[in-house]
Amino acid sequence: MTEPLPLAAEPECERHCGPAGSDRRHFLFAAGATLVGLTIPGLGVAQAKVAAYPRKKVGLLSKLKKGEAVEFRYPWDHANCNTVLLKLGQEAAGGVGPDKDVVAFNGLCPHMGWDIPAKKFFAVPGIAGPCPGHWTTFDLTRYGMVVSGHATQGLPQVLLELDGDDIFATGVLGLIFGFHDNKAEPKE
Ligand code: FES
Repeated sequence: MTEPLPLAAEPECERHCGPAGSDRRHFLFAAGATLVGLTIPGLGVAQAKVAAYPRKKVGLLSKLKKGEAVEFRYPWDHANCNTVLLKLGQEAAGGVGPDKDVVAFNGLCPHMGWDIPAKKFFAVPGIAGPCPGHWTTFDLTRYGMVVSGHATQGLPQVLLELDGDDIFATGVLGLIFGFHDNKAEPKE
């Protein structure tokens, strides 16, 4: 009976790194793991930055008087974010409070960005304007929709929430003039 021939030994890696090809596989695996580790946290941060508007306290319900505008900036401390908070004394779409009559709107006209001063926000009849640029008026009881004039978009409405007596701004309906994204921090 013939003795079986011994199996040929696997060629030894010159750098003592195991069977041929194993160091390449180890390298690809390690590189992949590193990429996953770098990519997922990056994506997580990016998503967190665009996920939500800030929640900002902007006034006290008990201090508001019908027709007296209160001004603040939202969502950024930027001139384009001038916002007018107003108690209309009549129910309004998006209004908060027991009478659903407290609303807030961005003060820049969406037509060409002229500033509509707070004194041109009228609780009665619930109109903002006319805009000093080209005379557009906006209905504050109906989400800021255009009543008449050149603007083709309504005045952006700042969303409000009530927590006890505290009024919070929590978002914006409509694009603020001059911005490509309300939630992207303006550069200047
Ligand atoms: S800028 Fe307001 S109507 Fe033109």
